[in-house]
Amino acid sequence: MEIRLEHWSDDDSALLLRTNAPAMTEHLGGPESPAKLADRHAKYLAMTDPAEGLFFRIVGTGPDGAEVSVGSIGYWSRDWQGERVYESGWKVLPEYQGHGIATAAARLIIGRARDQHRHATLHAYPSLDNPASNAICRKAGFTLAGPCDFEFPPGNPLRCNDWYADLT
Ligand SMILES: CC(C)(COP(=O)(O)OP(=O)(O)OC[C@H]1O[C@@H](n2cnc3c(N)ncnc32)[C@H](O)[C@@H]1OP(=O)(O)O)[C@@H](O)C(=O)NCCC(=O)NCCS
Repeated sequence: MEIRLEHWSDDDSALLLRTNAPAMTEHLGGPESPAKLADRHAKYLAMTDPAEGLFFRIVGTGPDGAEVSVGSIGYWSRDWQGERVYESGWKVLPEYQGHGIATAAARLIIGRARDQHRHATLHAYPSLDNPASNAICRKAGFTLAGPCDFEFPPGNPLRCNDWYADLT
């Protein structure tokens, strides 16, 4: 399946709801409440400055040319160990998993972040016990800095790996 990234739009709240399922949030602190999800949707819609960060729906095109929403990905600015960096995170719906879609999307997001010429690195922080997400980092060309303590969502502590892609 070919994929491309489309800016997050108001129509994507149904996709956000699907990515909030228990199986999709197992390594992310569990499903969020309807109020938190509405905040998240508004936050993604408000991401319009490419230099600060953007959020996308991942669109797949099947062999018959039909387009379908298969997941989500984005990059955003954050402080990390005294530096301003980009962070990324990704989700692919269960029926499309296992076909390299998240890895392909991660490669695209590295390119989008690099095009900004703003920060030197793009980081991802998969939980230590999320083998698929750690595999995506490795395959998409991230370098493993090592384990770290992280919070996602804020208030939910996670033991993660700090992976980074060099954007220079
Ligand atoms: C993690 C996730 C995005 C993977 O999406 P995907 O499109 O299936 O990923 P890919 O097909 O690109 O697979 C990447 C690699 O992970 C491996 N992988 C997939 N599931 C795995 C598992 N349960 N255990 C070990 N490896 C796994 C794949 O085999 C693949 O490596 P390979 O090509 O060498 O075999 C998807 O499972 C998901 O959305 N999970 C819930 C949300 C989440 O945890 N997001 C990450 C937050 S950091």
